Parts: sequence; C-alpha cells; structure tokens
Amino acid sequence: MLTPTASSLPGRPALLALVLMLPLALALAGGALAAPKSIRLPEPQTTGGKPLMQVLKERRTARDFKGDPLPPQTLSNLLWAAFGVNRPASGGRTAPSAHDVQEIDVYVVLPDGAYLYDARGNALELVRAGDLRGLTGMQPFVKDAPVSLVYVSDYRKFTRDSEADKAFYSAADAGHISQNVYLFGASEGLAVMVRAYIDKPALAKALGLKPYQHIVLAQSVGYPK
Ligand SMILES: Cc1cc2nc3c(=O)[nH]c(=O)nc-3n(C[C@H](O)[C@H](O)[C@H](O)COP(=O)(O)O)c2cc1C
Repeated sequence: MLTPTASSLPGRPALLALVLMLPLALALAGGALAAPKSIRLPEPQTTGGKPLMQVLKERRTARDFKGDPLPPQTLSNLLWAAFGVNRPASGGRTAPSAHDVQEIDVYVVLPDGAYLYDARGNALELVRAGDLRGLTGMQPFVKDAPVSLVYVSDYRKFTRDSEADKAFYSAADAGHISQNVYLFGASEGLAVMVRAYIDKPALAKALGLKPYQHIVLAQSVGYPK
C-alpha cells in the first residue's frame, strides 16, 4: 500500500485549487446534494491542442456517449473554445456574431442542473436544479452525454433587424459556436453531436426562458463509447 509522504501530498496552493474545483466536479458528476448557485470555473488553458488541419480531418458527429463526467478543466476549456472571451480588452469572443451583438447565451446542462455560462466572469450561474439532459433533444442518447450545451438567442440584443434577420443571424452565430465545439472535441478526442431536433417549447419551459429567448441548437459532449 502506498502511504503519502509529506512531499507527495499536495502543497497549499494545489490543495486550495482542489477545494475550489470541488463544487464543479460534483456538478459534473451529479453528486452534489444541492446544485450550487454559482460555480467558478478553472482558468481556461488557451494553448496547445492538435494542429488545425489534423482537427479538421478528425471532426465528426458521434452519437454514442459514455456517461463519465468531463474533468472541470476540460469543461472550462470547452466553454472558452465555444464562446469564451479571447480579447479581454475589447470583450471579443472566440466565435463571430452579427453586428458583434453576442446574442447567443450558452446554457450548460449537467447532471445536477442547468447553468448559464458567464464568459466574462468565467463562471456558471445556476438556472434550474435537476437533470434536464434528456430534454435537450428528442433522441434517446442525449440523456447519456455528461454535458449538453443549449444555444439560446436573446433577440433583445438586435435593435435594428427584421424578425427574419434575427433568426438568420442567430442560426449562423450558433453554428459558429457549435463548430468551435466540434473542433475542440476533435482535438481532445471527445464525442460531439449538434442537433436541431429538440422539443423547444418543453425545453424553454424547463429552462424558464422568456419570450424574447429562442432556442437555436443543442450540442452534446462527452467521451466516446
Ligand atoms: C443545423 C444542424 C442540425 C442537426 N440536427 C441533428 C439532429 O437533430 N439529430 C442528429 O442526430 N443529428 C443532427 N445533426 C448532425 C448531422 O446529422 C451531421 O452533422 C451530419 O450527419 C454529418 O455528419 P458529420 O457531422 O459527422 O459530418 C445536425 C447538424 C446540423 C448542422
């Protein structure tokens, strides 16, 4: 049996990091007694990954997910790749948006609750407690993926566009985000699937969305089976 020695035990900063990550690790695994109201994400690691051309070769849709949770660091990196802030001075994001209005909100549906990704604050804010993963699509496997992202357009952000243009821009902008997630998944060896086949009224109700919030797409991420 291995007995930890003083030198093999985590130092104080590492221990603090572990303690800070515990709420997110529990939310990802569905082991929390009560879903936390707010979860701080680890700082995203914004270097490394496979070369772009290799990632483009490997990008694909996969529909078989193991239930294993993603590690907290992987979730943070995934969300940053999806629609994180990559130019803090201007608030620029990793995906483009029409008029730069950044109308897509990323809802992160985990086993213990649905959260809103706060890209600037690098945090998750609880929206609804409980496991809503099965409501993020109409196909049976969507409940198996440990993380489902739901892309919701906030039409209030468009001030001078027709209804048709709002729908068109929202679809294009969610598409950019979903491709970022596909590329991150290919780089990390994760299974990813995007979908439009969603009971949108049921999911909007479960998430408590307002009339100006429109579900565009959902996307599951996990380990391949
Ligand atoms: C806008 C959009 C909506 C989609 N909706 C669904 C869906 O509801 N269910 C599903 O199984 N796949 C869905 N897909 C995934 C496509 O079926 C998949 O991308 C296509 O078969 C090509 O496979 P590939 O992604 O591996 O190249 C959707 C893809 C896009 C871009």
